[in-house]
Order: sequence, then structure tokens, then C-alpha cells
Amino acid sequence: MSTAHWRCCECVATFDKCAVGLMVVCLCFGVNEREIERVVRDGADSLDAIGLMCDAGTGCGCCRAMLSKTLIEAENKSASSDTDWAVGASAALGVG
Ligand code: FES
Repeated sequence: MSTAHWRCCECVATFDKCAVGLMVVCLCFGVNEREIERVVRDGADSLDAIGLMCDAGTGCGCCRAMLSKTLIEAENKSASSDTDWAVGASAALGVG
């Protein structure tokens, strides 16, 4: 998916990332990446859940690939934290 249509919240430039770092992910509803990250942190675990919480992805659908990427990254981050915790716990217990 091309990111050429993404626009910055502040300058409406068509850069992949702006200096402010707030990219509008969903142009249909003006939802930026910070809001997407917030709803995922608040428990959105699917595209439908993100749509229910902030409308992103419920219009033309162009942003759904980026929303999926955010979900996968959050899932990987969570799995990594679980693994880190398990490794730390194993070391602390002298097992594993
Ligand atoms: S850009 Fe998100 S639904 Fe259209």
C-alpha cells in the first residue's frame, strides 16, 4: 500500500513522516496514529474494534492495512513483553 496519500495533522504535507510525528492514518475520519495507538492500548484487538472505538477503517477502507500493521505490532510487543517476563521469572527462580 502506498503511503503517498497520508498527510500530516499539522502541515498537511504528503511526507511519510512529518517533524511532528502525527500522521493521519484514516483520512475519512481524520484519525491520527496517536489515536489509533491509544484505542489499541485501550483494548481494541481487531479492525472492527478499532472502528467501533474511533471510526477509523469504517469508510473507504484504504487505511485498514495500516490499522492491521498497528495491531500486529501491538501484539508482537505484548508477546515480547510476556517472553521477557517469563525469561526474567525463570532466571529469578533458577529454572529454564
Ligand atoms: S481512510 Fe480510513 S476508512 Fe477511509
